[in-house]
Amino acid sequence: MGKPYIFINTYDAAVELLDKRGYNYSSKPHNTLIALGGWTKIGSLLPYSDEHRKMRQYLHRFFGKSAVEDFHELQTQVTHRLLLGLLRRPDRLDDLIRHSTGETIMMVAYGYEVSEENDEYIKLADEGIKGFAEAEGFSFVNMVPWLRFIPEWVPGTGFHKRIRDGLQLTHEMVYKPYEMTKKKIFDGTAIPSMTSKLIETNATEDGNINDEFIIATSTSIAYLGGADTVATSDSFCVKEDDVYDGQFIPAGTTMLANIWAMQRDPVEYPEPEKFIPERWIQSEGKKLPRDVRRTVFGFGRRICSGRHFAENSIYVIIASILATFDIEKALDENGVPITPPLRYTPSFIRHSEPFKCKITPRSNKTASLIQQAVEFSK
Ligand code: HEM
Repeated sequence: MGKPYIFINTYDAAVELLDKRGYNYSSKPHNTLIALGGWTKIGSLLPYSDEHRKMRQYLHRFFGKSAVEDFHELQTQVTHRLLLGLLRRPDRLDDLIRHSTGETIMMVAYGYEVSEENDEYIKLADEGIKGFAEAEGFSFVNMVPWLRFIPEWVPGTGFHKRIRDGLQLTHEMVYKPYEMTKKKIFDGTAIPSMTSKLIETNATEDGNINDEFIIATSTSIAYLGGADTVATSDSFCVKEDDVYDGQFIPAGTTMLANIWAMQRDPVEYPEPEKFIPERWIQSEGKKLPRDVRRTVFGFGRRICSGRHFAENSIYVIIASILATFDIEKALDENGVPITPPLRYTPSFIRHSEPFKCKITPRSNKTASLIQQAVEFSK
């Protein structure tokens, strides 16, 4: 209790502190439930350390700017299947997009083809993300860590179960898909993937695998990042006392980069809540607003390792849907267009609340074009 929190609300402060003074702002804040539940084994929550640096090197090998070009074809094929899904079930846009992102990342990370419905690994990732949000959320034991020594029979100590469940879940998320891939390598049935390639390059002559934990944790964060674009809280722990803009920042302070506020900066983006796509159109003498990619993926030494990959997926999905479908407001029973309420789930990882819309092929040719694209990529 009593450790200060500071919200970084401006882009300039985030760049100065998290990028330029990154050496001092790269560790993750301590959270009792996160630590005891084993969540710090998950790549993005690893403390800043040699293990963390190695994880980033491994991820960079596969998700660096030029490395991600290898995935263009896969991303395009998966998007074609998404379009076919939309043609058949336009009411399932949300599920289809989630399925597509899971499908791509599971192939890249483990060479694994996800099943159409209720895939066990996607379910595991969903449970993991939920478990993480609960562990990270409000709990007295996070504020008063010695409470963890109170025995389980005392009422109000439900955190003991959370810790046990967390340990099992984090272990399964890191090792279950990893072991599945390893077994396939030995059976000779593995499809090349990040895991299979890292195992092959780290295998020793006596049959052991170096860095097994780091390989497993690096791929697990790719899997979690991809399955739900999980942005773990963009928070950092200050290593040494510092001063910024005349303000003293004591060691141990938790710094939170308030990306939400940076993206609603009215100087960069006048009327930020309004849909004004023209703000992005270049014209003579006009300064474009700050590219959101500079903030949305975080900052400094913990900037998102999957950003180039994620951007490519988002680009091909959006461009393909817009090229083939018209998206309009749905009509209510009186034929009046329904404006979506723009509400988000109150959960830790925010999604827009489900809303209705009307998705129809742009022309008669669209359906056959999509069918052909899917057939062609088989
Ligand atoms: C639109 C999609 C995505 C967004 C908006 C996003 C955003 C972020 C943000 C803000 C962070 C920093 C969190 C922090 O400081 O703790 C982060 C970290 C991370 N992301 Fe992403 N991400 C996305 C997709 C992905 C994907 C697809 C992958 C998988 C390849 C991925 C892998 C990672 C990893 C490994 C980290 C941890 C980096 C570290 O701690 O060193 N992300 N992401």
